[in-house]
Amino acid sequence: MSRLLDVTDLRAGYGTVPVLHGIDIHLDAGEAIGLFGPNGHGKTTLLHTISGLLRPSTGKISFDGQDITGAKPSAIVAAGLVQAQQGNTLFGDMGVEETLELSAFSPRARDGWKQRLEEVHTLFPRLAERRRQRAKTLSGGERQMLSIGCAMMCNPRLLILDEPTLGLSPRLKGELREAIGEIAKKGVPLIVVEQDVEFLLALSDRLYLVEQGEVASEIDKANAPDHQEIMDMYFGEQAH
Ligand SMILES: Nc1ncnc2c1ncn2[C@@H]1O[C@H](COP(=O)(O)OP(=O)(O)OP(=O)(O)O)[C@@H](O)[C@H]1O
Ligand SMILES: [Mg+2]
Repeated sequence: MSRLLDVTDLRAGYGTVPVLHGIDIHLDAGEAIGLFGPNGHGKTTLLHTISGLLRPSTGKISFDGQDITGAKPSAIVAAGLVQAQQGNTLFGDMGVEETLELSAFSPRARDGWKQRLEEVHTLFPRLAERRRQRAKTLSGGERQMLSIGCAMMCNPRLLILDEPTLGLSPRLKGELREAIGEIAKKGVPLIVVEQDVEFLLALSDRLYLVEQGEVASEIDKANAPDHQEIMDMYFGEQAH
């Protein structure tokens, strides 16, 4: 299988404070990988650096054989590496469908956008029901759906999701997880950060445990340790 993403010796931080201390991760075409680890240990920082929102101090990011280290976020999205946006203030006065349509602005997203809109509506029937509603009036869970829907409208070759179900009710969490599973089944390569390791193991081919700005361990689904062992790895002595 061909290598889609190669991150080597990535170091990044904020001002003079280093957060990532030499990260190596990779993803092959057609793969889904999961990232998990304690709060504040650099998962979001890693994703933001890959997406071009944060400039690394050293290291290299290759996407489909192309060096994208330090490239602009817009160029990275145009190449097909798309991180779904987070946050409650993202959407404005536009309608749900209009917001989805406008997400398909890059040349590679323009082709076939109507079919992709149908796919998004199939994935998230709630967005189809609310197509004329103003995006900013959606509930938190619906906004999360719209955010993933917008990312799908970019025709991603790699989709990045940072804790997509954070703070949602169990029911909405379930709906979103099902939709993310469908996206993976379509063969869209994924990087997903979640705290729920069981969900990640069901979804992903491999997991990385990110601790203190480093990859502390890599878990292959084919010979994954059982859940308790992963929890022990994660929490160490605290698990007992
Ligand atoms: N904009 C910022 N400016 C300064 N420091 C930051 C900024 N964003 C994050 N940090 C710091 O970088 C470190 C890593 O944060 P990061 O958000 O990457 O962790 P995380 O693993 O995603 O955590 P969580 O599981 O809580 O989402 C933390 O110490 C955090 O305080
Ligand atoms: Mg985070």
